[in-house]
Amino acid sequence: MNEIKNICVIGAGVMGSGIAAHIANAGHRVLLFDIVPNTNSEGLCSAQDRSIIAKSAIKKLLKTNPEPFTHKRNAKRIVALNIDDHLSQISECDWIIEAIVENIALKQALYTRIEALRKPGSIVSSNTSTILLSTLVKGMPPRFTEDFCITHFFNPPRYMRLMEIVKGEHTKNSVIDAVNQFCDYRLGKSVVSCKDSPGFIANRLGVFWIYSALVEAFDSGISVEEADIILAKPCGVPKTGVFALMDLVGLDLLPNVIDSMLAALPADDAFVAIKRELPLLLKMIDQGYTGRKGKGGFYRVKTVQGAKVKEVIDLHTGHYAPVKRVDIAGSKINVNNIKQLFELEDKASSYAWRVMSRTLAYATQLVPQVADDINAVDEAMRLGYNWKLGPFELIDKIGARWFKEKLQAENIAISATLEAAVAQGFYKKDEAQILSLNTQGGYSSVQRAAGVVMLSDIKRNAQAILSNPSASLWDIGDGVVCFEFTSKMNSLDSDTMKLLHKSILEVSSNYQAMVIYSDADNFSAGANLGLAMFAANIAAWPEIASIVQAGQQAYKALKYSPFPVVSAPCGMALGGGCEILLHSDAIQAHIETYSGLVEAGVGLVPAWGGCKEMLHRWMNDPHYTKGPIAGPAKAFELISMATVSKSAEQAKSNKVMRPSDTITMNRYRLLADAKQKALSLVEHYKAPSEPSFNLPGPSAKAVFDMTIASYVRSAKATKHDGVVALEIAEILSGGPKADPQVTQSEDEILALERTSFMRIIRHPDSLDRVEHILLTGKPLRN
Ligand code: NAI
Repeated sequence: MNEIKNICVIGAGVMGSGIAAHIANAGHRVLLFDIVPNTNSEGLCSAQDRSIIAKSAIKKLLKTNPEPFTHKRNAKRIVALNIDDHLSQISECDWIIEAIVENIALKQALYTRIEALRKPGSIVSSNTSTILLSTLVKGMPPRFTEDFCITHFFNPPRYMRLMEIVKGEHTKNSVIDAVNQFCDYRLGKSVVSCKDSPGFIANRLGVFWIYSALVEAFDSGISVEEADIILAKPCGVPKTGVFALMDLVGLDLLPNVIDSMLAALPADDAFVAIKRELPLLLKMIDQGYTGRKGKGGFYRVKTVQGAKVKEVIDLHTGHYAPVKRVDIAGSKINVNNIKQLFELEDKASSYAWRVMSRTLAYATQLVPQVADDINAVDEAMRLGYNWKLGPFELIDKIGARWFKEKLQAENIAISATLEAAVAQGFYKKDEAQILSLNTQGGYSSVQRAAGVVMLSDIKRNAQAILSNPSASLWDIGDGVVCFEFTSKMNSLDSDTMKLLHKSILEVSSNYQAMVIYSDADNFSAGANLGLAMFAANIAAWPEIASIVQAGQQAYKALKYSPFPVVSAPCGMALGGGCEILLHSDAIQAHIETYSGLVEAGVGLVPAWGGCKEMLHRWMNDPHYTKGPIAGPAKAFELISMATVSKSAEQAKSNKVMRPSDTITMNRYRLLADAKQKALSLVEHYKAPSEPSFNLPGPSAKAVFDMTIASYVRSAKATKHDGVVALEIAEILSGGPKADPQVTQSEDEILALERTSFMRIIRHPDSLDRVEHILLTGKPLRN
């Protein structure tokens, strides 16, 4: 197999620069080329710097949100170049990624130049979203076509986990294997094989869905807000629904994508049948209403008398009016009950049915046209459009027979694929495996990529060792157990603590190591604030004190257990979730882990050992040992500002992760990697020894207090931020009796955490913050 080490990306636009950034995130140096700007007839460039386009692209990456880099320092791995002066450098590259404008002639001209310079066996791929591979390589020699494929990344490349790969008629298997391997392990992508057909998988179906939603909205008279509500949660689609999604992506892209798709599809394709002129869309694009990047889109934000007002367009008049709250019967239905939505038959549900039924029926027509495997189509929609369930999983929820009969009643043609699923559905599960309907009408086992283990696979044919409503303990083989949070958002409560204690006893006698992990999107959103709020409302202070204490004891027991504990976070690991990480022996984190002690944001202080652990880590950093205040000051800065590390790499800089902790790029490989890490720690394992603290005391507290006061005065912090920060300062300075010459134990710091927590949770402004986050999901800045 070709080994990929040196990589270049040609085209430093939205996609090229984003792909380069993500390759840099994976630890690779990457050459980024673009054209020389404004060259005149003598080949002279008006700009002083002939690589200015690629250089500006890197600068732009550093200002883009969400951040394309997992750590800003990764930008240094990208080398900005231009194709006129530097293209010969591609001769060093093992993989050349083309991401220039979507223009066949320009791409083909570039390939001819690449072919003359690249080294034998190097791989060339295009990021095209609409052009067929067979068209791109027309006229190119076999040496080129054998090494060429399409690697279709989604925008933004760091965050979108899908990568579609298209193998050409002549592409060598070794090329596909090498790209597959690199994208899976190094870039963390879920690679889906597609056939060389227009729009590949995700956009073929996704654009059909968007287009149907538009056309049906114009026809049915449903409003934009109603459409976005009914096509979101009830259908398992992100809350942007369809119109807000178009605003995000850019309305101007749609007509081009639709036209190129229609030009390439046969006349009897269902896409062609829904083709309709949409004058309002064209008018909006013409007038600069291209979405968020333009003057606004289907939604816009207008400032009226200093206040921001969100407005929405009327699809019939083209006029904007303030967004109104709409009440729709089906809006509360969850995707697992999507059939109930379709049975409602009111205006909004009928709209959802018309859009989703046409889209799902179209999906069944696309196999085997775009892929042989229904799971590839489901994965493409789950990861490319963030649908909770893919189209075939959705049909299984509705019931293939019911779906077929309802389509028939509306005279919609039934595909052979749907017909084949009527008897037993698209997927079947038995104890050992999941089976999916294949193109011969039989069922084949759904294969995970080699080495991938999901907890759901283990759970399918096992009983939990221990379990309660908030957590479970599973045997994952080789003497390792997995402790799984199971509550909503994996929030933590007294049941979690009880099961942690029981699990520690169980593992101590019968197993070798523990991994803390769940298949969910988020590791843990922290303590269950709903319960805390309830207890505070009835002034159940002793109960609150006892859960704080129980948490401290459970986390301490975890830290000093006689076996290695590896936490494997992904997504949010906040507050109490972050404190679990801080008490583990090691962390194997997914790169997209967002961790931090965010308690201050909800008016509280970390009190499950978080302050204590951060103090210990910063006070032992050689850069922070000058004087007793440097370490506590850094911990104070991070905790009082409720800092969240926006990647596992940033978590290392903020000391939530240690230098020896490791990162997994592919979410699907997290559990297997964590288990390996746990096993590697078993031999010679010794629980850590208890740290001691020499804290600076009241003099440091006075410095912290002054800093807080100046932040509040200059409005960098709110009044209550100041109150909460004072409590954090109290803990981190070591309390009123602390003195750098006096050594305090871990338990003494834990006692300070408890005292401050119990004081601050009684503050009405803190309770307002907790209530606000529970009601709105957003922090209150009081
Ligand atoms: P873009 O317009 O943002 O950037 C294209 C870049 O290519 C520009 O910086 C341009 O100066 C440069 N360029 C043009 N001709 C060149 C040449 N001969 N050599 C070197 N550089 C050249 O385009 P974007 O959106 O980044 O798209 C790039 C490719 O990725 C297209 O094939 C597009 O279909 C595909 N794509 C785009 C997605 C998106 O969401 N924008 C998503 C997935 C694929």
